[in-house]
Amino acid sequence: AAAEKGGWSSFMAKEVAEQPEAVANTIRGRIQGDQVVIPELDGMDELFLGINRIIITACGTAAYSALVGKYAIEQWARIPVDVELAHEFRYRDPVIGDDTLVVSISQSGETMDTLMAVKYASERGARTLSICNTQGATIPRESDAVVYTHAGPEVAVASTKAFSAQITALLLLGLHMGRVRGTVQDASVDVAELGALPEKIAKVLESEQEHVTQLAGWMADTRSVLFLGRHVGFPIALEGALKLKEISYIHAEGFAAGELKHGPIALIEPGQPVFVLVPSPRHSALVHSKVVSNIQEIRARGARVIVVAEEGDAAVLPFADEVIRIPLAGAMFEPLLAVVPLQIFAMALATAKGLDVDQPRNLAKSVTVE
Ligand code: G6P
Repeated sequence: AAAEKGGWSSFMAKEVAEQPEAVANTIRGRIQGDQVVIPELDGMDELFLGINRIIITACGTAAYSALVGKYAIEQWARIPVDVELAHEFRYRDPVIGDDTLVVSISQSGETMDTLMAVKYASERGARTLSICNTQGATIPRESDAVVYTHAGPEVAVASTKAFSAQITALLLLGLHMGRVRGTVQDASVDVAELGALPEKIAKVLESEQEHVTQLAGWMADTRSVLFLGRHVGFPIALEGALKLKEISYIHAEGFAAGELKHGPIALIEPGQPVFVLVPSPRHSALVHSKVVSNIQEIRARGARVIVVAEEGDAAVLPFADEVIRIPLAGAMFEPLLAVVPLQIFAMALATAKGLDVDQPRNLAKSVTVE
């Protein structure tokens, strides 16, 4: 096993470090000039033009990648997207038919709840597309089409590089459908953003590893951590909290920052650590200013504020106890950078507590029972 880890202390550490490649390999072969063309979806243009609705179904981390996908696909392809946990979708009476595309996301391709959701959707006449990291797994075999993520085998129970590859595949899918539907006229800027991602992820790994590890070391006795985000930062807040729960057994919750005043702010007491994912002010000055005022609200109540913000964003400085920096990126691409310090944080905190980051208690890599 030590040899398989290639010198890394854990599979998770190795897999976090492999994210630039996971993203690059998922993009490879799917760009033509300044357009996204996914060869596996050749022949599906008519379907993409005919559908009125997309449901993305998944469990766990994959379901959080789906939430990022919702923002991207709606923006680029102008199709309404709902995200449904597979085990909820399957056991109600969803309104689906041949105008619905059901996209499933699964690292393993074997999660029973997700598989059953796909079968159920097919039986109801929906078309199915699988985003999967495992060649020839059951879920892609049961689907009408498959877009593989190429993250390589993921061993650690807590998903990291597969999550980044899933988001990448969803961004590709959104741009592919946007091209087909004529809602994306010029993808050149987005294609350039995709191409720049691996290097930017590598930069976050390099520049923040030590800082975040140190931060986690100081926080080894923390009992609860909150994560706030807006827009595509919201799913990343959920994912940051999930990573922490999974491997460090610390109570963690992710919230949409706008929900603060509807409940979560009651949790804030002096010293409560809160990660805040700050979207770039270049994407929306309004959304950025809303997040900055959320930070002020929690700071005023004594929260210990750790912000993840783009380089050069000085508006956060007066209210932050710690600032984690990420490179500048387009709105839909920022999640792939912002998630990295949260993964490192969870891993470092678990390590500081002396826990096995690869094999957390009570969890399995692939849940093949319903
Ligand atoms: C398990 C794993 C999670 C994963 C989820 C979905 O709970 O521990 O890391 O996100 O299953 O797995 P899948 O293989 O379908 O992506």
